[in-house]
Amino acid sequence: MARILILYSTTDGHTRKICDRLQALLEPQGHQVEVASITQDPAATLERFDAIVIGASIRYGKHSPLLFDFIHRHARLLNERPSAFFSVSVSARKAKNSRPETNPYMRKFLRRISWRPGQLAVFAGKIDYPRYTFFDRFMIRFIMLITGGPTDPQAVVEFTDWGQVEAFARLIGAQDQ
Ligand SMILES: Cc1cc2nc3c(=O)[nH]c(=O)nc-3n(C[C@H](O)[C@H](O)[C@H](O)COP(=O)(O)O)c2cc1C
Repeated sequence: MARILILYSTTDGHTRKICDRLQALLEPQGHQVEVASITQDPAATLERFDAIVIGASIRYGKHSPLLFDFIHRHARLLNERPSAFFSVSVSARKAKNSRPETNPYMRKFLRRISWRPGQLAVFAGKIDYPRYTFFDRFMIRFIMLITGGPTDPQAVVEFTDWGQVEAFARLIGAQDQ
């Protein structure tokens, strides 16, 4: 049994939902799992965990600056533990962007940090037009128009492949045996 910390960086909550799913998959494997926001900075408690997983979403081409702050501050500890990272974006719904080696956001992310997660994943996120501001809805609809995605302003579409999330949970669980 391992004590696993799952940290999320989210704006609209979908990355948190994926983290909750990972927790629900890992606990029956016998692991003790805590899910927390990266903004809470659990620095004081980080040492308590045997393994650390971080998930973060993309907004206008970028992961949150808070994610990079956190990783820079804790890179040594992160590199000492079994660890994993996943990135969430809508462009990951396309086959060409669906793997860590081919996803441009993941590649850019890895170039900026000294942490080397043991496991990596890229998950397709969610579009939820009704909850966006006018500006965000306009921008995302425009991007969807040029990339062949949904443009109905009422559309709520979850692109996440939950089977892929399950496979990732199995890798994390096995890493900590
Ligand atoms: C304002 C906004 C900007 C976004 N920018 C991008 C982007 O540049 N590239 C991309 O692939 N997805 C983009 N997305 C899609 C999000 O990554 C996707 O909705 C994801 O599920 C959000 O996860 P979260 O709810 O955890 O923040 C954007 C979404 C919003 C609302």
